[in-house]
Amino acid sequence: MPKRSIKTSAAGKNMMEPGFTSEDVQVEGSLRPKTLDHYIGQEKIKKSLKIYIAAAKERGDSLDHILFYGPPGLGKTTLAQIMASEMGVNIKITSGPAIEKPGEMAAILNNLQEGDILFIDEIHRLNRQVEEVLYPAMEDFVIDIMIGKGPTARSIRLDLPKFTLVGATTRAGMLSAPLRDRFGMIHRMEFYNDDELAQIIIQSAKVLGVEVDFDSAIEMARRSRGTPRLANRTLKRVRDFAQVRNNGIVTLDIVSEALRLLDVDDMGLDRTDHELLRTMIEKFGGGPVGLDTLAAAVGEDSGTIEDVYEPYLIKCGLITRTPRGRMVSDLGYRQMGIDKIQ
Ligand SMILES: Nc1ncnc2c1ncn2[C@@H]1O[C@H](COP(=O)(O)OP(=O)(O)O)[C@@H](O)[C@H]1O
Ligand SMILES: [Mg+2]
Repeated sequence: MPKRSIKTSAAGKNMMEPGFTSEDVQVEGSLRPKTLDHYIGQEKIKKSLKIYIAAAKERGDSLDHILFYGPPGLGKTTLAQIMASEMGVNIKITSGPAIEKPGEMAAILNNLQEGDILFIDEIHRLNRQVEEVLYPAMEDFVIDIMIGKGPTARSIRLDLPKFTLVGATTRAGMLSAPLRDRFGMIHRMEFYNDDELAQIIIQSAKVLGVEVDFDSAIEMARRSRGTPRLANRTLKRVRDFAQVRNNGIVTLDIVSEALRLLDVDDMGLDRTDHELLRTMIEKFGGGPVGLDTLAAAVGEDSGTIEDVYEPYLIKCGLITRTPRGRMVSDLGYRQMGIDKIQ
């Protein structure tokens, strides 16, 4: 089985999913909705953000700090950018692993302007000392800076502009309690339903100049793991296939064929999903099996399994999490076409 190169959350930037090309990353920017009204789905979050943005604007105040968490590709970065444009403020984008020293964090904070949004992706990966600079900054809009060394060292306090921190993480559980407690709002991103993904696909198709009928859009939606980033990727692969095979016309058959070529099944599961399920069944009797044991058996990073693959498999009811490990459900066996041995 060919190993795909994956940038994992543990080893690299968390924006990548399996099978992603640099073209995807470039196109992603152009497909990003620019306003809340073009941001499809996540209705609960949108509703509260709308009220919240309107209220802050009316008071001439900045927004409270917000944390978004959930699997990659569900629209966290996009939401942060939309918040900035709806508020009419600048956004500075950085990520947890990119900030190595407390001084770097202090410099970033010190360069912000009143009302600005600081977006920190993968915020759970900030190191402890860097994180500590954030505590007084978030709470009182000040930073303490040490001047000098040894016995003459003293700390001075600098005032910061009132800014809004927007944090994103795939794992809220890995955030330290003091950091988590300093967010005024914590929002969990949900997987998208087929209708919402179909709307996103149709919206993206317009941007890409591809004609897509509703039935084809729904079929692509069904196979995109509830994830907008993957829905856009599916659309682009189908477009390529249609271009070569069918004069650019997307039909239901073209969608099915293109996805078969990509090894994506009727539920949107890909090769790695299948490998995970098959390994759990064949090597571990369907489980329970611990995350690290499973990761070693399939040669995948355990963080990637936990952040990228498992959430959707759990959401679909194909695997369950028990205190003793992960288990394949009856539905999981059925999806793999394997009989359960009692
Ligand atoms: N609610 C949405 N409506 C339309 N497109 C979306 C939505 N959420 C995400 N997307 C698309 O999916 C891509 C990935 O979203 P992104 O915000 O980068 O996800 P995350 O930061 O959670 O990994 C975006 O480029 C955008 O095109
Ligand atoms: Mg992101």
